[in-house]
Amino acid sequence: MTGNEVRSIFLNFFAKHGHKIVKSSPLLPANDPTLLFTNAGMNQFKDVFLGAETRDYKRATTSQKCVRAGGKHNDLDEVGKTARHHTFFEMLGNFSFGDYFKEDAIRFAWDLLVNEYKLDPKRLWFSVFAGDAEVSADDEAVELWVKAGAPRERVLKFGRKDNFWQMGETGPCGPCSEIHYYLGENPEDPAFNKAEYVNGDGDDTVEIWNLVFMQYNRQEIAPGQYKLDPLPAPSVDTGAGLERVTAVLQGVKTNYDTDLIKPIIEFVAKLAGKEYKAQTQEGFAMRVVADHARATTFSIADGIMPGNEGRNYVLRKIMRRAIYNGRENLGFNGEFFYKVCEFVIDFMKDAYPELEAQRSYIEKMVRLEEKRFGATLTVGLKKLEDLVNANKDEQTGKAILSASSLAKLYDTYGVPIDLMYVVLIQGKHSIT
Ligand code: ALA
Repeated sequence: MTGNEVRSIFLNFFAKHGHKIVKSSPLLPANDPTLLFTNAGMNQFKDVFLGAETRDYKRATTSQKCVRAGGKHNDLDEVGKTARHHTFFEMLGNFSFGDYFKEDAIRFAWDLLVNEYKLDPKRLWFSVFAGDAEVSADDEAVELWVKAGAPRERVLKFGRKDNFWQMGETGPCGPCSEIHYYLGENPEDPAFNKAEYVNGDGDDTVEIWNLVFMQYNRQEIAPGQYKLDPLPAPSVDTGAGLERVTAVLQGVKTNYDTDLIKPIIEFVAKLAGKEYKAQTQEGFAMRVVADHARATTFSIADGIMPGNEGRNYVLRKIMRRAIYNGRENLGFNGEFFYKVCEFVIDFMKDAYPELEAQRSYIEKMVRLEEKRFGATLTVGLKKLEDLVNANKDEQTGKAILSASSLAKLYDTYGVPIDLMYVVLIQGKHSIT
C-alpha cells in the first residue's frame, strides 16, 4: 500500500460514514495569534468546537498539513534522531461537531484499522485517561474499546501528559485515547513491561492515532490560572500521523523509510554523490535535510517567509539547520537546498497543487536565504572555529567558551545562537 493510498483510504472510509472531505487549511493559522503554525487537524475547526462558528456539515475528515516546530508542540530537536519525529507531517483526522461521540469514534477507529487497513489486532494497544483532581477517569472509553473488540488487558490508563489533549494553553480540549502499534518480533511476549512499552517512544512501538473526546474549553481567568468550561456539545477530534501509519503498513521501522519520504532522502544522497546509510552522521544529515525541505517548501507555499521574529524566525531556523547540515556533513559547497525543495514540489504536487502554483516563488526565497546564510556561515563559523581552537584543552580536545565571547560572535557576525549550540554540542564543547 502506498502512502497516497493510505491517505485516500482514510478519507474515503470517513466519507462513506457521512463525513465531508475538507481541504487542509494553510500552515499559516488564520486569525489565531495563539499558534505559530497549524499544528493539528482540529485547528481550522477550533471555533466550530467552541460553538462560535457553524458549518453546513457536522462530520468532517481531513489530511492536514502540520508543522510542529515551536510553541506547545515542538519536535524540531528530535528530527533526524528518532524514527518518527518531523517538523512537517500530514495528520489524518475525523471530526464530529456535536454529532457522534466516544462510542462511534472508537468503533470507526477499530473498523478502519482492523477491517480496512487490515492491521493485526494482536499488535494493537490502547490507552485512556486515568483521571485526576480536575477530570475523572475515562472508564467509559475502556468499556467501549472492549465492546469494539479489544482485549481488556490491552487497554491501559495514563495521566494528563499522555491522555489529555489540548491545543495550547487555552482552547478546546479533553481526555484522549491513543492507539499504539507494536512493531517488535513477538506481539505476545509476556516479558515486556506493558506500561513502559505502550508509553515509550522506542523503535518497537509507535503511537498511530489519537482520539480526543473534546468536552471542555480551557480559559485563562487570571495570569497563569485556568478553568475548564464544558463545550456546547461533546465532540470528536482525531489525529493519525500519515507517515507513521504508512510506516506500519509498509512494514518499515522508521517514517523515513516510507515511500512518502525515502525518495527525498535518495534525492539528497544523489545530489551529494553519497549513499544513504541510516546509522551514520551523513544519514542523520540527509534525514534532517529531507524533513526540513518539506517544512520549508510547504511553509513558503502557504505564505510564511524566513525572518527574524515569531514563526518567520522558526522557519529561518529550520532552513538554516538544513543548510548547515548539508554543508557540514554532506559536503555541499554552494547552494543546494533549493534543489531539494524543488524535488519536494515535483514529488508532492499531485496531493498539494499549491506547491506547483508557488514553484518559482519558493525557489527564489530558498535561494535567497541560502545565499544570505552561506555568507554568514563562511565568516561566522570560521570565527567560531578560531574561538574553539584558542580555548581548547590540549588533552581532551574540548573547549570551554564564555557566553560573552559567543554573544560577541552573534553581534558581530550574525552567527545564530542555536547554530552555535549545534556546533558546540556536536564537538562536545561547553559554555561557562
Ligand atoms: N488534535 C489531536 C492531536 O493532535 C488529535 O493529537
